[in-house]
Amino acid sequence: MLKRLLQGVILMSTLSAATLQAAPRELIIDTDPGADDLVALFLAMASPNELNIRAITTVAGNVRLDKTSRNARLAREWAGREDIPVYAGAGRPLVRPPIYAAEVHGEEGLTGVPVHEPKQPLAPGNAVQYLVDTLAKAEPHSITVAMLGPQTNLALALIQQPDIANGIKEVVVMGGAHFNGGNITPAAEFNLYADPHAAAVVLASGVKLTYLPLDVTHKLLTSDARLKQLAAVNNRASRQVVDILNAYIKHDMDLYGMPGGPVHDASVIAYLLKPELFSGRQVHLSIDSREGPSFGQTVPDWYGVLKQPANVLWVNEGDAQGLFDLLSERLARLQ
Ligand code: RIB
Ligand code: CA
Repeated sequence: MLKRLLQGVILMSTLSAATLQAAPRELIIDTDPGADDLVALFLAMASPNELNIRAITTVAGNVRLDKTSRNARLAREWAGREDIPVYAGAGRPLVRPPIYAAEVHGEEGLTGVPVHEPKQPLAPGNAVQYLVDTLAKAEPHSITVAMLGPQTNLALALIQQPDIANGIKEVVVMGGAHFNGGNITPAAEFNLYADPHAAAVVLASGVKLTYLPLDVTHKLLTSDARLKQLAAVNNRASRQVVDILNAYIKHDMDLYGMPGGPVHDASVIAYLLKPELFSGRQVHLSIDSREGPSFGQTVPDWYGVLKQPANVLWVNEGDAQGLFDLLSERLARLQ
């Protein structure tokens, strides 16, 4: 009798542990790797219990599309995740000619590390059609899109078939700037400046939107101690991240006189893994796509003076050490 009772207790505790482990989040990562994109991709690919990465979709941004697509394939090769398909998407923004940031990310888009042609090819087909096909047949509000570059691919997919918005759980964007100005112009952050028309399409679609702007990413900076913390993981992935960051952060530290450099895109993945590290406010967001000094500017109505309905969670605070602790712990899971 006692033995059966114990067996029952063990079974119940096993079941409860299993049910406590939530199902992984269905995720598409849209990206323009990009040094900080690479860090974000490693963090995501090292977290299969929480994130079921359905695909990586690439877009022109930091460098040309052929290079961002090669770099996404490199990231999955280095992370041992060649199970994840990579689809190449838009080679230019909706309206304007493309802009690039090779001076920040290096000519090949992955400053600080040597690159090569990865073994695994791109998945057949265009990223935009992949987004349409996947989101159109998805369960309602089931798929998250992490947006780490210009929002061109998702905008084109929404223009082609607006009802795919029903398949989206939420879109989490690295982009925008408000309280302390932009990084590509005094008013605008790079991803929004590169394609504000696309960002406006995504905003108008009504999907659940979270923005992680420079307001928060410029608070989540590297330091000598944090770079040492990453180096102490002492595997290939962590050495690649440290080499990339050591090269990547110089530009921003010199430009802004900051004590460290940002890991912009990694904050999006950290938010998905540990939202408790971040905080913000539901606000009404406007995006300026008029030619001129405010082109690409994001205007969050932080104090609600416009009395317009909130359409974005604008994240402005984050736990920097918490992010680097998470990154170190997850990098240790890679090779
Ligand atoms: O402004 C920073 C953003 O622009 C990051 O996503 C970086 O990778 C670039 O795409
Ligand atoms: Ca990026």
